[in-house]
Amino acid sequence: MFYTVIGTQWGDEGKGKIVDWLSFKAEAVVRFQGGNNAGHTLKIKNKIFKLNLLPSGIIRGKKCIIGNGVVLDPWALQEEILKLKKQGIKINSKNLQIAENICLILPLHKILDSINESNRGKESLGTTKKGIGPAYEDKIGRRSIRLCDLSNKKILKRKLDNLISFHSLRLKKSKMNINAKKILRDLISIYKTLKKFSYPVWITINKLGKKNKLILFEGAQGSLLDIDFGTYPYVTSSNTSSGQIFSGTGFGLKQNNKVFGITKAYTTRVGAGPFPTELNNKIGDYLGKKGKEFGTVTLRKRRCGWFDANLVKQSVLISGVENIVLTKLDVLDELDELKICIGYRINGKKFDYLPFGENLQLKAKPIYKKIQGWKKSTYGLTKWSDLPAAAKNYIKIIEEIIGVDIAIISTGPERSQTIDRKKILGNL
Ligand code: IMP
Repeated sequence: MFYTVIGTQWGDEGKGKIVDWLSFKAEAVVRFQGGNNAGHTLKIKNKIFKLNLLPSGIIRGKKCIIGNGVVLDPWALQEEILKLKKQGIKINSKNLQIAENICLILPLHKILDSINESNRGKESLGTTKKGIGPAYEDKIGRRSIRLCDLSNKKILKRKLDNLISFHSLRLKKSKMNINAKKILRDLISIYKTLKKFSYPVWITINKLGKKNKLILFEGAQGSLLDIDFGTYPYVTSSNTSSGQIFSGTGFGLKQNNKVFGITKAYTTRVGAGPFPTELNNKIGDYLGKKGKEFGTVTLRKRRCGWFDANLVKQSVLISGVENIVLTKLDVLDELDELKICIGYRINGKKFDYLPFGENLQLKAKPIYKKIQGWKKSTYGLTKWSDLPAAAKNYIKIIEEIIGVDIAIISTGPERSQTIDRKKILGNL
């Protein structure tokens, strides 16, 4: 049996809390895409844990697996492990396994990320500059250094020289010098720490699957940043939709999957790109302030807007979402009136989906359904019956449009601040 948690918007939907909740019962928690561009914040008993690469289950001592679909910055991982150990978290070869065929992010990828961004000028994507895109480019270009390569100095040196030589022209043009000897030395040294985690993780995952153990696949970013189905080119460089769990880990079991889609009660995005329901006004500022909408990785201010039910409906279909977890409902408490986007008008034509053309996406004018606000605090509520009627109405309208149940409503960062409306958490 396995569960998948994915974001249904542009990331930052609050996946950390629900992953933490579900991981309580899971045997293993697995990352299958992305890298340290992700940022998950967990608040447990007044302690704050910030994770970028490690699956959230690490805080609860669960078996954590980083699959081959992730790109791994060994320097960043070493730092994250050290930081968590200082916070009292145990990390050893029993609770952490990393795919030995995982591709690495090297310092040159971060430099290339910055070069690519500045070359794009006004059309820069607003990446996290963590080297994610260039590392995936090298993976597809079959030039990557993988974790398993670090065990052999000769192979590692050859691969590193090839990689640097491939990129040398662009690096030279930008007057960026790469110290190959230092990278080689660092990688060999870091491998002494990482070696014990390196493993053919597909074996572990399939064994757990066969024994019918609960495996939790933890998505990073959100469906609208998916390299295929997102607002391309303003996306991340991996498939963020649930289909990626198989190629990103080597897991072969396709039955008994439950996909949880995490959805914020309004919409946010960091970085550039189309955002039809964006609010560049007082309401947008209010949502950002009340929702504390600042990126956990880059600390950038997030763009805010009305709930786009049309886009969430797409994510639900593409990832096979069965249950929605609606987060940050309380952020809307003080608004007189709310709007839900139910479609777009583009060049005078109505659309009930967002077409892929970049020019069309930028021209999409939202068609809204207006809803009365509830003007009462929902913060920390735990019972469906305690929600104001207008808040229930807001939730039911969203459900009607997206076609799946909003099973859980998160009303605050603490575990207890949750409405388990369909009683699915208790039964898990
Ligand atoms: P990259 O993943 O660093 O290449 O950035 C590509 C786009 O994805 C940029 O718009 C980033 O802001 C966005 N992005 C990457 N990771 C996250 C995340 O964890 N949350 C929200 N946005 C993200």
